[in-house]
Amino acid sequence: MTQRVALFISGGGSNMIRLVEDMKGDHPARPVVVLSNVPDAGGIPAAARMGVPTVTVDHRPFGKDRAAFEAALMAELKRFRPDVICLAGFMRVLTADFVRPFAGRMLNIHPSLLPKYKGLHTHQRALEAGDHEAGCTVHLVTPELDDGPILGQARVPVLPDDTEATLAARVLAREHQLYPAVLRRFVSGQTEPLFL
Ligand code: GRF
Repeated sequence: MTQRVALFISGGGSNMIRLVEDMKGDHPARPVVVLSNVPDAGGIPAAARMGVPTVTVDHRPFGKDRAAFEAALMAELKRFRPDVICLAGFMRVLTADFVRPFAGRMLNIHPSLLPKYKGLHTHQRALEAGDHEAGCTVHLVTPELDDGPILGQARVPVLPDDTEATLAARVLAREHQLYPAVLRRFVSGQTEPLFL
């Protein structure tokens, strides 16, 4: 039975695009909706061009009322009956109440080798620490930020003349390889983590 995947974005959606492009042919899953909290996110027209339904739920009118924003998000999400949720450049922290119904079925990609550098500015922090390696991680989402079981990681070298931008670009290219490979394994029931 084809698994229904909802993808959450906040920006350009480069990871979402690679995931949608990969869910074809014998892939056990198909994208059913791309949701964004940012109405003019570049990934929304990109998803529409690929024929994927899109929904935006602007978080700004809800102010600090996170529960109300998530209730609106959940109301839209339920219309598409997703089996799996892929957070792909989604920049809102989701509460335990939102995450709990999708425990074990919500994935996220984070631009560091977790458990190192949870949170933001991961590349700058790796450079400041003098790390010789960086990378990205796909993990199951739990109520704890950037903390769930690791499903896959990809490593890149940190070069002496790297800036935050050059390192981010090198990691992003690996994200585009890692996330589709991990999602294929996940929806195929393969639970062993993938290390690229
Ligand atoms: C990526 O670095 C991803 O790791 C992080 O958001 C950034 C932008 O992702 N979660 P995308 O291009 O919007 O997929």
